[in-house]
Amino acid sequence: MFKLLKRPFLEHSHEVKSPDGRISCKIELKFGKVTYSIKKDNKVVLRDSRLGFKLKGAEPLMDGLMIVRVQESSFDETWERQWGEEKYVRNNYNEVALYLSEMGGDKRLFTVRFRVFDDGVAFRYEFPPQPSFTSLVIADELTEFNVDSNAKAWKIPAYQPDRYEYNYERWPVDALVQSVHTPLTIETPLGDVISIHEAALYNYGSVTLKLNERRVLQTDITPLSDGMRAYVDLPFNTPWRVVMIADSAIGLTQNRMIYSLNPAPRTDIDFSFVEPLKFMGIWWAMFVGEWTWARGDRHGATTEHATEYIDACKRLGIKGLLVEGWNNGWDGDWLQNGSDSDFLHPTEDYDLPNIAHYAKQLGVELIGHNETVGFIDNYEAQLEKAYQYYTSLGIHYIKTGYAGSMMVTGGNREFHHSQIGVRHYQKTVELAAKYGIMLDIHEPIKGTGIERTWPNLLTREGARGQEYEGGALSPSHACILPFTRLLAGGMDYTSGIFDVTNEAKKLRSTLARQLAYYVTIYSGMQMAADRPRFYEEVRPDAYKFIRDVPVSFEKSVPLLGEIGVYYVVARQGRDEANWYIGGVTNEEAHKVRLSLEFLEDGEYIAEIYRDGDDANYRNNQLSIAIESRKVTRNDFLEIWMAPGGGFAVRLVKQ
Ligand code: NOJ
Repeated sequence: MFKLLKRPFLEHSHEVKSPDGRISCKIELKFGKVTYSIKKDNKVVLRDSRLGFKLKGAEPLMDGLMIVRVQESSFDETWERQWGEEKYVRNNYNEVALYLSEMGGDKRLFTVRFRVFDDGVAFRYEFPPQPSFTSLVIADELTEFNVDSNAKAWKIPAYQPDRYEYNYERWPVDALVQSVHTPLTIETPLGDVISIHEAALYNYGSVTLKLNERRVLQTDITPLSDGMRAYVDLPFNTPWRVVMIADSAIGLTQNRMIYSLNPAPRTDIDFSFVEPLKFMGIWWAMFVGEWTWARGDRHGATTEHATEYIDACKRLGIKGLLVEGWNNGWDGDWLQNGSDSDFLHPTEDYDLPNIAHYAKQLGVELIGHNETVGFIDNYEAQLEKAYQYYTSLGIHYIKTGYAGSMMVTGGNREFHHSQIGVRHYQKTVELAAKYGIMLDIHEPIKGTGIERTWPNLLTREGARGQEYEGGALSPSHACILPFTRLLAGGMDYTSGIFDVTNEAKKLRSTLARQLAYYVTIYSGMQMAADRPRFYEEVRPDAYKFIRDVPVSFEKSVPLLGEIGVYYVVARQGRDEANWYIGGVTNEEAHKVRLSLEFLEDGEYIAEIYRDGDDANYRNNQLSIAIESRKVTRNDFLEIWMAPGGGFAVRLVKQ
């Protein structure tokens, strides 16, 4: 419904309800200012929250506003994911766009568009082209999220040297005086669980949040080195500001708003080359000190090692092989020397053309590696040539890395999650699409659902992963990720380390838990991160699960969970009748009783990989029980998870 108002509204209150009527969002114009508030089941989720901007060289955009036009609409479509946790996603919302104009001055125009879904609210600012207002320098975005100050937030700090790679902590919202990253998952005093995030982040600084002068959570858009948050030309739409809302933490894990808020892929780009996969790597051997990235006696990326690993991939049924340290630039302190990284020339002991040829003969995908250390000018200067070179060799997957604490560009140091960082990552994704390349981005910009539009972005890191084992990861971390980081999309957690007891990097995990991750931590590229001998010689029985588990799913059914305590999810393999269940617990043991009613009628063989009765992550990590039994949808599975443990189940339809 479209209303061009005869006389503009100077005061107005507009309510939009979710299709199921449970969530309502009220947008109000009072005294020239616009605010919004959200309720669920008539209980407050967000109190009156302000909207607006401070601009450089222009008056703030937040006062003296009137509404000149109101447009209401509804939308309901089910769209298909090329790969992911499920095949179909329903995108169903009621929308209102309020067209605003300043009453005085330059009478600048902008629109706030709200979409109310059954599981949350999203809104964005839209700036149409207009004669006296052609560009914007955002000095500050003043969007508030007025959450109850007694609510508890699961936060990681922003603007830190290790980017998003921090342990989550549960803090009262009232204590968030320093900026934190999104998704920011919050448990409200009324029992709801919400997560504040953003969708479709393009050409803008990413949202971090902190309390403002009114002690209300407000966007603190990541600044550029000159202090400004973004430079944009009109027309321009900001990313969507998203508030996911659920009755429970486990319900939140099903939220797919960020994808639905991104457009479908462009029809002029053929993404049929995109294929998720499992891969091994010349990788963990470097973390445990067997091999090195740098050249020398223990260089990992040699022709000999690569050939051995390609053979192992073939035998183990693993599609891809990552090789790190293959190029010039790793000798000495590579974190300091990143400006010299060379993405076009292999080291002399690594015969790339022949290795690529051999991999191709065996049907193994060689995965390239580009560690930029954040020196993005150096990378961008080589980018197109490098991608051309890789495709000429038949390499279609690249893992990129930005391990520096800041990005270095134009003589400035910029945050990875600033507008400049966002633009850089986007450039790599678009160029990769042009060359038929799929990406796994480490030290990435957080996920905002752009994989819907760019499905060649198969996964990213963007949180502490297993490389932090050996001291910096507690078992609770993997029980927090599904409710926080993973709301922003898949993660390359580098699962499947079987050498859990290695003193050089001892994991706080049981062996069975390593299998659980393939289900609990979704990723479009799933690593079997250990060395092949651990799969072939040490535990081939446990490896069977890694061989069997798919990387794309038909359906996902979150079963049980509490943030930081435990998490269990079931997923049906894409285009197959079999199901997979994964469960993880924190440092405490946990017994779960799972109803199998999500299965279809008929019999299934449950292949169960669980912690042995005496297992624990401290001193009995390798105790695992592998057993199978017949089940139907009327059965329950009772499974005990050891402290720091977990389980994986494959349900094979008979
Ligand atoms: C950090 C990445 O997360 C890791 O996977 C990679 O091996 C190193 N950087 C070196 O690029």
